[in-house]
Amino acid sequence: MANLDRALLEIERVTGDCAVLRDPELLASYAGDESEAAPVMPEAVVRARGSADVAAVLRAASRHQIPVTPRAGGTGRTGGAVPLEGGIVLAFEQCHEIKGIERGELIAVVQPGVITGQLHQAAEAEGLFYPPDPNSLSTCAIGGNVAENAGGPRTLRYGPTRDYVLGMEAVTADGQVLQLGKRTVKGVTGYDLTSLIVGSEGTLAVITEVTLKLIPKPQAVVTLLALLPDLPTAGAAVGAVLAQGLLPRCLELLDEATLAIVRPEVGLPLDAAARALLLIELDGDEAALEGQLERCGNALVEAGALEVLVARHGGERDRLWAARRELSRALRKVANYKLAEDVVVPRPRIPELIDRCRRISEQNAVAMPSYGHAGDGNIHVNVLWDDPAQRPQVDAAIEALFRETIALGGTLSGEHGIGILKAPFLPLEQAPELIALQQRVKNLFDPQGILNPGKIFPGGQPKTHGAC
Ligand code: LAC
Ligand code: ZN
Repeated sequence: MANLDRALLEIERVTGDCAVLRDPELLASYAGDESEAAPVMPEAVVRARGSADVAAVLRAASRHQIPVTPRAGGTGRTGGAVPLEGGIVLAFEQCHEIKGIERGELIAVVQPGVITGQLHQAAEAEGLFYPPDPNSLSTCAIGGNVAENAGGPRTLRYGPTRDYVLGMEAVTADGQVLQLGKRTVKGVTGYDLTSLIVGSEGTLAVITEVTLKLIPKPQAVVTLLALLPDLPTAGAAVGAVLAQGLLPRCLELLDEATLAIVRPEVGLPLDAAARALLLIELDGDEAALEGQLERCGNALVEAGALEVLVARHGGERDRLWAARRELSRALRKVANYKLAEDVVVPRPRIPELIDRCRRISEQNAVAMPSYGHAGDGNIHVNVLWDDPAQRPQVDAAIEALFRETIALGGTLSGEHGIGILKAPFLPLEQAPELIALQQRVKNLFDPQGILNPGKIFPGGQPKTHGAC
């Protein structure tokens, strides 16, 4: 009997046979994520219902040396949930319980398969707020958000997922169930392994429950859309808003190439002279917000905005957000192939980054529209192309983008993680000693290398099918 069959028999003794899928048609939907990483078929999927199932999978997998790839919503952007070496996908769609929202303690305890948007609704129904807002809100799940340390448009004011993870239950590669962290705001006992697991992309342990910090729901939100004549003015406007002492919850930028693509989709008359767009959201107490709105609007106009639109209520705000929300779909429509990066540079250097992208785009004859979380310096640089024969130019453009990012004092990934797609480029940013230290940490947690193998660390060539 093959090792996998032995492992699955042991697993089924705990989970029951309904939890184990082997039908190739069913397995196919666990092969890929929402990135350009080529899908890989797992040999089996186990749909866990809780930590006992997860511990059974990992005990059997470590005994028989079967690779295990944890998967929550499967919406990742760098191949984190792709089972690169086959084996077992440990799926969390059955773990979708919000176990509790404690108003007095300002915490939520959730299973990893809870859809992030559902946690938002549940918290807001209690007058509370869970700020992290990856754009895939209705499909991404908390386990994946934690594993990737997901960000999104609200990170500027509220920080990424890591800032909300107080504690977790996690299962080690050999099947031990551990309680990490705390459920109190303070707690400095021992090493902060909770923070280490956050963002470790499923390579150190498997998360089976998360205790999240909540905050009071902001009373009011106001959205501003500013049209700018060029990118340097947009860059100056970002600086001018922050120099006012304002900390918007979102500060999003669309560059000229992106604006040209989404203009027909937006349903708003956008000034033809506009070459960049900023979308800004302020929140807080109603009374304080009016003053902030005025300061923000004035800063934008003084920095050179052609026009500033303001929306205070749900429907109007959604109308202003339409341009931003339509982006991914609109970009996909104009080219056969798209790669989306999430580099970060110091905020004042965003115009330089986008200018360098323009040069890289010309040199390699591929389109490179950029947009993203300007308030964080986190820009989604996209590469668009139509002909598979252009792939060498695409690869050259991506490498040049990463080199320029590092030269500008930036980092390769602000929120999507390294996964498969960026692993070959890790040495551009990190010293060999630092990579080796992280690999020793990985080996300590997972000496057999069965947990989500092939992610983060360079070693293999990126496997992409180029299309999305
Ligand atoms: C966004 C995702 C792709 O910001 O990170 O749209
Ligand atoms: Zn983003």
